Amino acid sequence: MSKIFYITTPLYYVNDKPHLGTAYSTVMADVLNRYHKLFGHQTLFLTGTDEHGQKCQEAAAKRGMAPQAHCDDMVKNFKNAWADLDIEYDIFFRTTDGFHKKAVQDCLQELYDKGDIYANDYEGWYSVSEEIFYTEKDLVDGKSPSGREVVRISEKNYFFKMSKYQQRLIEHIEKNPLFIQPDSRRNEVLGFLRQPLGDLCISRPKSRLSWGIEIPFDKDYVTYVWFDALLNYATGVGFKQPARQADFQKWWQDTGAIHLLGKDIITTHSVYWTTMLMALGINLPKQVYAHGWILNRDMEKMSKSKGDVVNPLDIRNLVGPDGLRYFYVRDIHLGNDAPFSKELVVNRVNNDLANNMGNLLSRTSNLIGKYFDGKIPSCDFKDPLTVELKTKALALADQVQADVEKMNPSHALEKIVQVLNEANRYLEIKAPWKLAKDDLATTAEVLTASLETLRICAILLYPVIPKKIGELLARLSCKDVSLEACKKWSQLKVGTPIEKGEPLFPRIELQEAP
Ligand code: MSP
Repeated sequence: MSKIFYITTPLYYVNDKPHLGTAYSTVMADVLNRYHKLFGHQTLFLTGTDEHGQKCQEAAAKRGMAPQAHCDDMVKNFKNAWADLDIEYDIFFRTTDGFHKKAVQDCLQELYDKGDIYANDYEGWYSVSEEIFYTEKDLVDGKSPSGREVVRISEKNYFFKMSKYQQRLIEHIEKNPLFIQPDSRRNEVLGFLRQPLGDLCISRPKSRLSWGIEIPFDKDYVTYVWFDALLNYATGVGFKQPARQADFQKWWQDTGAIHLLGKDIITTHSVYWTTMLMALGINLPKQVYAHGWILNRDMEKMSKSKGDVVNPLDIRNLVGPDGLRYFYVRDIHLGNDAPFSKELVVNRVNNDLANNMGNLLSRTSNLIGKYFDGKIPSCDFKDPLTVELKTKALALADQVQADVEKMNPSHALEKIVQVLNEANRYLEIKAPWKLAKDDLATTAEVLTASLETLRICAILLYPVIPKKIGELLARLSCKDVSLEACKKWSQLKVGTPIEKGEPLFPRIELQEAP
């Protein structure tokens, strides 16, 4: 049976449109998902929107709209942006969907009945923007640990007994080194767990916040937005829905999700969520993987609160969806922070796509047009340099697969680019434009070997830049876009037409100052 791969992005708040940071989580999940598809795995990709809670209620009020109408409207921004960036998700999850609300209430009731949720008076500090409670000792200079304003609050609330599961969680993280990744994040979470874990406040009084899922055993309260939203990863694949038991077994219980998210929300995912799952008696995700931040000019996290966000669609308009996708994967090592500027993106696209890949395509297809009537000629592959290039190209698929499975897609791209460089160097050395005058047999060999290498690299780049690679492979009349086809040579059969066409990756000139 083929391997199963289930990947999720965070559910985005609908208080704002997507920006370059939120688009990053989504594009990376899409790229990883498309790679696993290429590897022949059965895949499922879930993304969506987090629609309850204070932020959303406030954003709706500011627009003079009912919260649900505001959400319905904002969701369009996300769906359109993802379509524009060629995101191919399987499930777009909305926390306001009826089945989810019912499932969340069932979970709350179950935990209440077994004594894992209890009522208590709460007195402490609350950060409205983060929707998180803090104790006195959590505060840093009178603010939340990430520097947000906090207010004093005193009220009755419901609490989830997170502390009961602390030891089990520590043991799970220690026994499973890949459960939280990268290692720096794993150590951070283990460090956090060295202190006693408090219980989690999972309710909000309706008097303060009405936009949420009602607590089934107390009509005066709604559910804390994180408790509601985190459950999506399981309810999205059928949890608490008897008619979808088989789905739930397959995607959640037997497989385990890979949760990809920004490092700012590692605690909610690796501590709140995993202890919730322990209490509910279902399996934990396979991995919680925290990526880094896209930084602004001041080398800080790009965020709406700092007012410096870049609209991903502006960048898409400049370099195309493929250009932005390529930059994200190639320039940002998953897990690390990365600076962003238009100049960086444009340089990357010009270097790797216009110069390297684009040149290889245009030189070879022009010469095939000129000397071989635009069709793959018959030839032998016997020159030592040809054999060397062929060996490197044929080894690439396994290397790419190994890197991607280790969540290192930027390394995979580096290796592909190296082979494209080799192919360009091989062309320079062999100079088929000169060779053609008196040795057509070697010219045929050189051009066909270059195109075979290009074909292999192109298929391996398909998950990253699907649109351009689709066009490129069509020019090579190549229909077999599979991993197996990357492990075989001579797939462009003699007589296959090669289309010249306009430059596939035109150089981009940056007009304005970066
Ligand atoms: N709604 C919660 C997640 C709930 S998941 C059950 C949330 N939403 S968010 O819209 O604020 O952020 C979603 C994601 O965008 C997070 O992974 C966050 O790290 C990511 N990013 C937001 N700004 C970012 C950058 N500047 N750079 C990279 N990613 C960042 O949190």
